[in-house]
Amino acid sequence: MDDETGTITERGLAGLLASGDMARASVMLEKLRRLMTCYRCAIMEVETKFRVLDAQFSARHERNPIDTIKSRLKSPESILGKLERRGLERTLESVESNLNDIAGVRVICSFKDDIYTLADCLLQQDDVRLVSAKDYIKNPKPNGYRSLHLIIETPIFLPEEKRQMRVEVQLRTIAMEFWANLEHKLRYKKDLPEELAASIAGRLSACAERSALLDDEMGRIRTILEGV
Ligand code: GTP
Ligand code: MG
Repeated sequence: MDDETGTITERGLAGLLASGDMARASVMLEKLRRLMTCYRCAIMEVETKFRVLDAQFSARHERNPIDTIKSRLKSPESILGKLERRGLERTLESVESNLNDIAGVRVICSFKDDIYTLADCLLQQDDVRLVSAKDYIKNPKPNGYRSLHLIIETPIFLPEEKRQMRVEVQLRTIAMEFWANLEHKLRYKKDLPEELAASIAGRLSACAERSALLDDEMGRIRTILEGV
């Protein structure tokens, strides 16, 4: 972070440290650390909301809609990288107002229906505000990617204040997670020959279609079994 403007730059921070202005550098680092703690708390709040929904559902229907919850906090390096790529101001204020995915919670369900049930239950809660939603299950990405994405705002309670925090929630089935993890590997293989990359993309896209059919069929079988 730069001392004049409060802008976060590694060089600015290094400059402060080199100039011996340790006091200012440490104030800025402390502010960033506190903000990250707030996002960590927001993750805990959202995870708890889902665990509570899972427990309630399980008590009523004798099965758990959630298979796994995976959460992650974006690293300061990737926060800086994203601000830079988007040409945004590198301040803590800019982080909060422009980046929606510092805190990420991924909810993995066995069945597609449960994704919508959980999302509806979450959004009905009076301390959850929906900022935006992208339904890549109803409208898959051209590569075949499927998931329901919600950006929500929810409060965390600090000793002296209540603070609204943004959290990115991704809901997907086990099959969608399996697919997305493999596809993610393709994205980061930048040195693949063009032809091979295209052929893998095609095969992955076919896998996504088959996987969606499997999700639907498994859902139908479950519904039948529950009715018997
Ligand atoms: P960023 O990519 O985070 O800048 O956000 P965006 O505004 O384009 O959001 P979007 O909701 O499309 O994607 C957010 C996140 O969803 C990504 O960071 C990934 O975790 C996941 N995601 C989106 N598209 C894909 C995809 O095609 N493949 C995989 N594996 N993951 C994806
Ligand atoms: Mg992201």
